[in-house]
Amino acid sequence: MRNKFIAGNWKMYRDVEESTQLAEAIKNILKDVGPSEVEVAVCPPFTSLCAVNSVIKGSNIKLGAQNIYPKQEGAFTGEISPLMLRSCGCAYVIIGHSERRQYFGETNESVNEKVKAAIEYGINPIMCVGETLEEREKGVTNDVVKAHVEGGLKGIPKEKLQHVTIAYEPVWAIGTGKTATPEQAQDVHAFIRKLLGALYDDAAAQIVRIQYGGSVKPDNAKELLNKPDIDGALVGGASLKADSFEAIVRFNK
Ligand code: PGA
Repeated sequence: MRNKFIAGNWKMYRDVEESTQLAEAIKNILKDVGPSEVEVAVCPPFTSLCAVNSVIKGSNIKLGAQNIYPKQEGAFTGEISPLMLRSCGCAYVIIGHSERRQYFGETNESVNEKVKAAIEYGINPIMCVGETLEEREKGVTNDVVKAHVEGGLKGIPKEKLQHVTIAYEPVWAIGTGKTATPEQAQDVHAFIRKLLGALYDDAAAQIVRIQYGGSVKPDNAKELLNKPDIDGALVGGASLKADSFEAIVRFNK
């Protein structure tokens, strides 16, 4: 059975000192939560990765980055390689977040390269997919999600699929306070799992964790996370405070 996986996407918030404090607070408040119950990760900005790693090392909290460059090293000014992320203690990396697709020109092809590179170097990708409001209103949600999933996973063999988490994040729900209803989210999650079954096989599809993201808060987490195909959450705003992040991790309490 898939264990739940809650990750905090801190986006471009928190400097080194603030990140250290937030990581301390999260570590302390969640010290009794083990990965067999809920797996927890925090994804601070690059500049805070090493500092946060020092705080959470040896605890149940895992570290993730928010982007990666798909080369081991080289003359790529301003970029960060998979090995560099590993050396900061990253177990996860968010790839293809809608903000990166929207503002930084990421495409299914670049997402695919990054997913492959992350897996190659032993970092588990959290691959983001999801439709815009316009696409939902046009009735093409499933087509968009299908293209994101198929494009992002191109060439990933079945035995590597277990390393991938998919985050379904409807763009219209991110940072807007508008959450997809649990039923709307469950429908897309079930669609993604069926698609994985067709691309790979049912057993492989059953292993992949599919997180929901988009205005997940303490008061809607339980309903969302109790849906059969919703295996966790990628949390933005509510992950920036230890108490609201804790309440989401303890959604069933
Ligand atoms: P939000 O962000 O929880 O603030 O809506 C989610 C995300 O962008 O991953």
